Amino acid sequence: MAEQTTVILFGATGDLSRRKLLPGLLHLVLAGLIQELRIVGTSLEDYTEETFREFALRAVKEFATFEITDEQWGNFAKRLYFARSDGGIDELKATVKRAEEGLSDQSMRLHYLSVPPKAALTVVKELEAADLVEGSRIIMEKPFGTDLASAVALNSSLHEVFDESQIFRIDHFLGKEAALNILAFRFANGLFEPIWHRHFIDHIQIDVPETLALDDRAGFYEATGAYRDMVVTHLMQVLAFTAMEPPSALEPASITEEKNKVFRSIKPIQPSDVVRGQYVGYRDLDGVARDSETETFIALRCEIDNWRWAGVPFFLRTGKQLAEGQRIISIAFKEPPQSMFPEGSGVGQQGPDHLTFDLADAAKVSLSFYGKRPGPGFRLDKVSMQFSVEETGWAGSVLEAYERLIYDAIHGDHTLFTTAEGLERLWEISQPLLDSPPPVRPYAPGSWGPNQIHQLIAPRTWRLPFERRWRSTNR
Ligand code: BG6
Repeated sequence: MAEQTTVILFGATGDLSRRKLLPGLLHLVLAGLIQELRIVGTSLEDYTEETFREFALRAVKEFATFEITDEQWGNFAKRLYFARSDGGIDELKATVKRAEEGLSDQSMRLHYLSVPPKAALTVVKELEAADLVEGSRIIMEKPFGTDLASAVALNSSLHEVFDESQIFRIDHFLGKEAALNILAFRFANGLFEPIWHRHFIDHIQIDVPETLALDDRAGFYEATGAYRDMVVTHLMQVLAFTAMEPPSALEPASITEEKNKVFRSIKPIQPSDVVRGQYVGYRDLDGVARDSETETFIALRCEIDNWRWAGVPFFLRTGKQLAEGQRIISIAFKEPPQSMFPEGSGVGQQGPDHLTFDLADAAKVSLSFYGKRPGPGFRLDKVSMQFSVEETGWAGSVLEAYERLIYDAIHGDHTLFTTAEGLERLWEISQPLLDSPPPVRPYAPGSWGPNQIHQLIAPRTWRLPFERRWRSTNR
């Protein structure tokens, strides 16, 4: 349990704060994982302490996945403070001081920068000027920089103010229970690791389509796009968990080193291996240029140039306004070299055997393979073994990804955070794509992206949409 913590939340009235951070911080308090919490919100918006508290209440009502009583809300609300950005460092300093009244010298101060990359450094300088750096920790949101040069510059300016041990670069996909379960699945069992390489695996798909539109976030997104928002961040981190060698210990240095080895081995992303798309209607949004070339969709092929993965393509896809919201990692195994089954048996007709991780909050894992249909002859069909967290008694103990990571940062645990070296390498392999991006192709909202995605993966096919649904838990 963290005893006393002050979270200074920059971008406090933004989308992330509303959807995740404020409900998440409240949940940590209610779960007894933070004993005494104060929150100082700050943003460019013209809020007062009172309107900020109303904003937080609306956020909790809309996005919290748990119920609260009026008394619980009242206790939380009085710990919310607000400093206007245009009040400058004096107002910030005074508000932090007011918020921390009654806390001991040992209390932890955590700065959470939920601000666009270009604003991050200004905030860091403000913290220095307000003398709020010493003994504190800082969480930086992604994307960390916008290319290699800006990431290097950001890291070096950051290090002028904060020591690396104080910095927590967050990627919330690493806090998802389902992502952590990949590590458990791979390294806690003797069954799967022996087949986890090029001799048995044909290819891997990391597919995160979203149905969300960008109406509220177009301003941020227009300067970011799907590659920077999702691929160089979340999808690559998930790829690292999927592809890394066994770490020697479950601690930050070993895990980081194995992830960085994967990043070092990824071949630079070639524009010819990328399909970029933009949903029809995006250009009409406020904050978007009428001739915008920002991609709201991206699919790409990449390769890891090491002994384990040589010749095994990784296909990554994500986008907004797509047909379904899913977050899956799909491992396609090689097919048997020959078949003794008669023609018409159905063998191989429903694709290869797959191991699928669903990274949804209610995590699932499925292993699909061919089995015999009962009855005469030899008809084969795809069947599956499935595991779902919802079928266990553990479901209620799941911490949302941000909650888990904020909790870890408060405790100084870097295991699930990204590092300067890893991020810089990811920007480095991205450079050919950033330098010459292929054209954005329009796609209809509600589709699976531009048609070119099929050529990208051929002769294989995209796993989504699933041919067979996940089994429902109450069957
Ligand atoms: C965020 C991106 O980091 O992740 C969003 O900025 C995206 O564009 C979101 O929608 C997806 O996260 P999750 O946890 O909802 O899958």
